[in-house]
Amino acid sequence: MPEKTIFTNRRSEIAGVPVARLAEEFGTPLYVYDAAKIKERIADLAMFDTVRYAQKACSSLAILKLVRKAGAAVDAVSAMEIRRAVAAGWPVTAEKPEDPDPIVYTADIFDRDALDLIAGEYPVHVNCGSMDMIWQLGQRAPGREITLRLNPGFGHGHSQKTNTGGDQSKHGIWHEDLMRAIELASHFDLKVKGLHMHIGSGTDLEHLATVCEAMDRAGLAAGPRISVISCGGGLPVPYDNSGEYVDLAAYYKIWREKLDLLAKVYRHPIRLEIEPGRYIVAESGYLVSEIRAVKNQGGNLFYLADAGFNNLARPVMYGSHHPISVAGPSADAPEADVIVGGPLCESGDIFTQKEGGYVEKRRLPKAEVGDYLVFEVAGAYGFMMGSNYNSKPLAAEVLIEDGVPRLIRKRQSFSDLISCEVE
Ligand code: LLP
Repeated sequence: MPEKTIFTNRRSEIAGVPVARLAEEFGTPLYVYDAAKIKERIADLAMFDTVRYAQKACSSLAILKLVRKAGAAVDAVSAMEIRRAVAAGWPVTAEKPEDPDPIVYTADIFDRDALDLIAGEYPVHVNCGSMDMIWQLGQRAPGREITLRLNPGFGHGHSQKTNTGGDQSKHGIWHEDLMRAIELASHFDLKVKGLHMHIGSGTDLEHLATVCEAMDRAGLAAGPRISVISCGGGLPVPYDNSGEYVDLAAYYKIWREKLDLLAKVYRHPIRLEIEPGRYIVAESGYLVSEIRAVKNQGGNLFYLADAGFNNLARPVMYGSHHPISVAGPSADAPEADVIVGGPLCESGDIFTQKEGGYVEKRRLPKAEVGDYLVFEVAGAYGFMMGSNYNSKPLAAEVLIEDGVPRLIRKRQSFSDLISCEVE
């Protein structure tokens, strides 16, 4: 298991580069990623036969290239994510039939552009999350191999909004429909070679382990046509000092033992895939911002930064906690209880809030306009869930490798912002 980071509310550097230097050189708001952390997290998962990166967590091309070079395969959930994977250098299909599919499209629908792309130019492997997907792929591209994403009838996530199983979830083929799905596939000569379950994002070992039982039942029902099983993503990372990692060795062992038994029944080996997004990139990412106003009103102290929920939506969306640090102050600098907000013309633009929008205070060093605030553990679902709300340009991104920061995404300009508009 990785060693836990101890979060403090002060930080002078990121991956060896001073925060102030990064902010001055590249401007703010700025996403900064530590390449070493991403490589380390992929290496932690080396016991799994295939590590498939859920790129929705962070799909900037330089990050994808880094992940590919570290040996991972990739998941895509849209036509453009397929194009990103190809642009980052993954081959469209495996060279040898026993190799893992380099790119897998996992979704509950095909939008028309995704179906056109997959039936035509980029015939990537499809993991079907609905009967309609089987129908639509079967009609356009009969004879392909597919996998089925099953909804095991239960789910769990860090928030109700990230729970992807159970009868209130739109995801996956309902577990009781497995045999019907296999029949439908065979009608089109689609060969079901694998099963997949993902019950939610940011869950825990207890819930993850229950998936293994459900998969065992499904695997026995589906029979020896199955040669690959994906246990999905969902691995949590600590977002504060009480947060925990999942014991990866224990998690792997639970799965391997079950799959070894299944493999005996099938009389052939089964490849075990894991499909994390957050675990691979969350801790590598930092959102650097500058404090632009310090307000004292109604007895509350506010730091207003130039980053808002247009840059990091997780607090407003799920009440997510991100560690916040002030760059530069000495260890004995005085502290205060602070509400941290952004620049947007909307009251919800507060980083220190719980689910439901209840504002909280955070103990932070006393700071002034011009000081830098860093939102940490922001690499997963950070930049990616950004928007142009209030006509704010998307942030720039920098990747630090071997102590050298490199711009991997330019800040949007006004002409970028209006480039698709027609007057
Ligand atoms: N596989 C499937 C089929 C998924 O739907 C997801 C996440 C993953 C893998 C990766 O899950 P992870 O390992 O990252 O937990 N925006 C939310 C998370 C939404 C996750 C959506 N699906 C957040 O910021 O917490």
